[in-house]
Amino acid sequence: MYLKQLDTIGFKSFAERIKIEFVTGVTAVVGPNGSGKSNITDAIRWVLGEQSAKSLRGVKMEDIIFQGSDTRNALNVAEVTLVLDNSDNQLPVDYQEVSVTRKVYRSGESEFLMNKQPCRLKDITELF
Ligand SMILES: Nc1ncnc2c1ncn2[C@@H]1O[C@H](COP(=O)(O)OP(=O)(O)OP(=O)(O)O)[C@@H](O)[C@H]1O
Ligand SMILES: [Mg+2]
Repeated sequence: MYLKQLDTIGFKSFAERIKIEFVTGVTAVVGPNGSGKSNITDAIRWVLGEQSAKSLRGVKMEDIIFQGSDTRNALNVAEVTLVLDNSDNQLPVDYQEVSVTRKVYRSGESEFLMNKQPCRLKDITELF
């Protein structure tokens, strides 16, 4: 399955909106210790439905929301979108491209979207 793109804002160390395009040929993510490489894989696991805060290296789910730094305030929501290529129809939906989005608020409320339409967590986990 081809992961095309990851967009995130407010997830762990990603205070600003970032967009990572996994263009053909990308096989690795490199960077200094603590620069956020594992946070990228955590974001992928989370958007695909991970329910265990511990698996995401936290204690409670809220720990995945940007908690602020010396120069920035904490954020109240984390949002991750993963775009998957479905031109080979591996996923049981009628779209060439499928985006899945997960949002969580500090209040504990959460939202799931598929191709920008609200859906249930189950709709996302059942895709795979
Ligand atoms: N909720 C959060 N808010 C702000 N920063 C966070 C949050 N959760 C984690 N971080 C930061 O993310 C950083 C760790 O990132 P990560 O583990 O992805 O690094 P890495 O590149 O995988 O490092 P290594 O090479 O050591 O494996 C730490 O600086 C940590 O403070
Ligand atoms: Mg790491």
